[in-house]
Amino acid sequence: MLAIIGGSGLTQLSNMEIERREVVRTPYGEPSAALAFGRVCGERAVFLARHGFGHTIPPHLVNYRANIWALKEARVSGIVSVASVGGIRADLAPGTLIVPNQIIDYTWGRKSTFFEGGDTPVRHIDFTHPYDEPLRQRLLAAIRRAGDSAVDGGVYATSQGPRLETAAEIDRFERDGCDIVGMTGMPEAALARELELPYAAIGVVVNFAAGRSSSENGIHFDDIEVVLQESMVRVRNVLECLCQI
Ligand code: HPA
Repeated sequence: MLAIIGGSGLTQLSNMEIERREVVRTPYGEPSAALAFGRVCGERAVFLARHGFGHTIPPHLVNYRANIWALKEARVSGIVSVASVGGIRADLAPGTLIVPNQIIDYTWGRKSTFFEGGDTPVRHIDFTHPYDEPLRQRLLAAIRRAGDSAVDGGVYATSQGPRLETAAEIDRFERDGCDIVGMTGMPEAALARELELPYAAIGVVVNFAAGRSSSENGIHFDDIEVVLQESMVRVRNVLECLCQI
């Protein structure tokens, strides 16, 4: 059973037949929302709204540990994250889908590990390749099956938010080798790895990053909303195909 974590624009999966909702308590507190268990195209799946059902939890306040812990306890086989992002590279225009293969973490002050010492020995994880390659490939196959296309690979800069970046910050991210920028990629991916859950993400480019192209003089939230609405229809189709393969 796959888990889907929906971000901005995807607080519920309209193509999921929900069988039950479960409010889960974890040692780290409550997840962002009740877990929705059900079926997508007949296949079992669980959905979690990262920012809460009413989209009220900002990226830096998401309880990432509770979210990942709850999904582990639900015995999911892997997690697919849906994330809206800004495009840094010129070819990553609004409306582009991208399946990143690398991350740089610029966040701070987030609870980013389950391994907090105490009585237990120090533990490290290998994070050379932060996304699970078989799940990435499955996601890419689902995108093709849905008749859509996506950019295969890219470096996801995770910024702190909730404000958008300055143009100079985006220049810095680009110098660092980043292709897209979002606010929720970390610590989510690392926490999933700590619990040995395969994790992959589908990025939906909803705007050019600050200072780039049509965002040269600012980012317009009305434009983002339009792209979000259009793109999430495509993402729902992709998720249907994903659950079937
Ligand atoms: N920056 C950070 N996060 C985002 C952006 C952006 O430009 N667009 C959507 N999420």
